[in-house]
Amino acid sequence: MIVIKDHVFTLHTRRTSYQMKADAYRVLLHTYYGARVGDADLSYPIRYADRGFSPNPSEAGDWREYSLDTLPQEYSSCGVGDYRIPSLELEPQDGSHLADLRCIGYERRSGKYALEGLPAFFGGEEWETLVVFLEDAAAHVGVELYYGVLEERDLITRAVRVVNKGDKPVRLRRAASLCLDFDGGDWDFVTFDGCHVMERCPHRTPLRHGVQSVGSVRGTSSHHHNPFVMLCAHDAAEDHGLCYGAMLLYSGNFEAAAERTHLENNRLVMGINPYHFCYTLAPGEAFTTPEAALVCSPDGFAPMTHQYHRAIREHLIRDPLKGTRRPVLINNWEATEFHFDAEKLVEIAQGAVGLGIEMFVMDDGWFGSRDTDLSGLGDWSVNLKKLPGGLEALVPRIQALGMKFGLWVEPEMVSEDSALYRAHPDWALGVPGRPQTRGRSQLVLDFTREDVRDYICKAMCQVLDSADISYIKWDMNRSLSDVWSAALPPDRQGEAYHRYVLGLYEVLERLRTRYPDLFIEGCSGGGGRFDAGMLYYTPQIWCSDNTDAVDRLRIQYGTSFCYPASTMGAHVSAVPNGQTGHATPMETRGVVAMSGTFGYEMDLGTVTGEERETIARQVQQYKEHWDLVESGDYYRLSSPFDEGPYTAWAHVAPDRRRALVSLVTGTMHAAPPFSTLRLKGLDPDLCYRVNGKESYRGDVLMQVGYPVPILLNDYQSMQLVLEAE
Ligand code: DGJ
Repeated sequence: MIVIKDHVFTLHTRRTSYQMKADAYRVLLHTYYGARVGDADLSYPIRYADRGFSPNPSEAGDWREYSLDTLPQEYSSCGVGDYRIPSLELEPQDGSHLADLRCIGYERRSGKYALEGLPAFFGGEEWETLVVFLEDAAAHVGVELYYGVLEERDLITRAVRVVNKGDKPVRLRRAASLCLDFDGGDWDFVTFDGCHVMERCPHRTPLRHGVQSVGSVRGTSSHHHNPFVMLCAHDAAEDHGLCYGAMLLYSGNFEAAAERTHLENNRLVMGINPYHFCYTLAPGEAFTTPEAALVCSPDGFAPMTHQYHRAIREHLIRDPLKGTRRPVLINNWEATEFHFDAEKLVEIAQGAVGLGIEMFVMDDGWFGSRDTDLSGLGDWSVNLKKLPGGLEALVPRIQALGMKFGLWVEPEMVSEDSALYRAHPDWALGVPGRPQTRGRSQLVLDFTREDVRDYICKAMCQVLDSADISYIKWDMNRSLSDVWSAALPPDRQGEAYHRYVLGLYEVLERLRTRYPDLFIEGCSGGGGRFDAGMLYYTPQIWCSDNTDAVDRLRIQYGTSFCYPASTMGAHVSAVPNGQTGHATPMETRGVVAMSGTFGYEMDLGTVTGEERETIARQVQQYKEHWDLVESGDYYRLSSPFDEGPYTAWAHVAPDRRRALVSLVTGTMHAAPPFSTLRLKGLDPDLCYRVNGKESYRGDVLMQVGYPVPILLNDYQSMQLVLEAE
């Protein structure tokens, strides 16, 4: 609900309120964000005091207590007296570098605003929109702050549109998607960091004086820092304490910066990374920032997680399989890498027959001269030596085994050893006169260029039209470098990183429109582009190239803070694991993979006996409980980063009548302590039968807990299926 009274704008969600106020000088102050309160003007605690070296805007005259440097700002200015992190930096033709914003109006709309060419949460009447209009009068620049309010999900989205209202070009050096000021308070900054094969591990540090930031300048959101961060009270945990989540729906360079000032105030700013960003707005032109999405939870991390998960499932993901179970798949990558032919693939697929597996995915190596990762990218025609008769011959053979067919592609890339590169060397990003930097021996196609995008769309359509393909895995295996586009003049090269991302989104949207039933899984060397922007186009993302079940506990735990299990590609793979050497039991690998979108990544052609029986049982089990994983509430019951004896988590049905609880132990030591696992999210008054045997009341399972049996040996697992009687 949006309430507007006397220049005070209050956005209410079910459990939270957000408020801003245009003051006497029309400066938009941020007055509150937290647990739900009434509509009163909450600017009263703001103190005005003359602080040394905090200057005063001209309107304030001799009122030295009024300074942009000390007041909480809704969208911070630059160069006019607020020395904290700016949200906006403008460079008009006079070469100045300021942004000085005043409120000039507002508009309220029912429904949710949309952003052209950018991913955004969507929906109907359950949303309300507020637009607050600001301007920098001297630069003739309008700044429109968009707010989407999804009351039921405690979600507030934000985006900003900057319009050049003058008659001369203006350069935009920075345009953040959100700014969040807090007067006082002690906060922890939580970020989700890692690297290739160990993504999104949470790190929590108290905000110290100065600026702390994470971000990416790799052209993708990256394995290294995720565009989701949290601020929380020092004592906040899963079930208590105030916390704020801030998510950016963007797949390129980003920055999330938190600052604690000399006055103990705090600011969080999030948006496109200002590195190599400079966007020219001709008269009349506008720039729209990516969307950011905030959830505040007065009661700890778990409610925040649930609200993000529900909002993403209901209002962000456009899933052609919505409401139905995604097929259990077998992917050949870890079994064969590049070394296969049609007969080998059919052998793996034959191995899947009788196990309940429903889709075969042919990974990298099927096209052009792609026998290693040194060549072939860009040549999207079947390698007939490996696959005689092409997809037209292979796909029906797979389908005859009762499986759908899926295909790996990496459309943003080109190998120098490819027909495409030989024909169009200038289509790869690179600065003329400089040698190009290679990553995985490949170059990046310039997706800022329309001709390149058209070519790739056409090539993908040719592949997709040539056979009955139900799914594609859209991979991307390097960071961008040498970012320079032949399509842009020298003074607009600062737009290239952003235009690349827009180009990628455009291509994905074109394919989605042309093939509405095609399911696309995102991937970037595993989870290098696991962000809410990609989820708008690809409803699931390969979580990590690390398929080791023990490491996956950490990766999936970190990912779960804001991204639902239904978005996490997770497969059972062979042991010893290629990344870690761990030989985790098959049961445990299944339990961990079942907490994402389930599949296998091994040579099923060679799996026999007991292992086959285990796989068949796992697939059956997944099919029985997939709806809990897909749409249940996710509870982190213990952390894989703690020293405890096990990691446990649960998926609880929205009506709380069913739950799937999973537990994986670490390394075993003699004389293990006895432990009980306290469950969460159950109905305290219901009685639950556990694994079809004994029954317990919900309150007992939550307060006293379930006695965990001693599981001898390392990395053992246990699953509990709870059903209300
Ligand atoms: C990286 C992906 O994450 C893997 O699953 C696999 O598809 C390889 N690329 C193929 O090159």
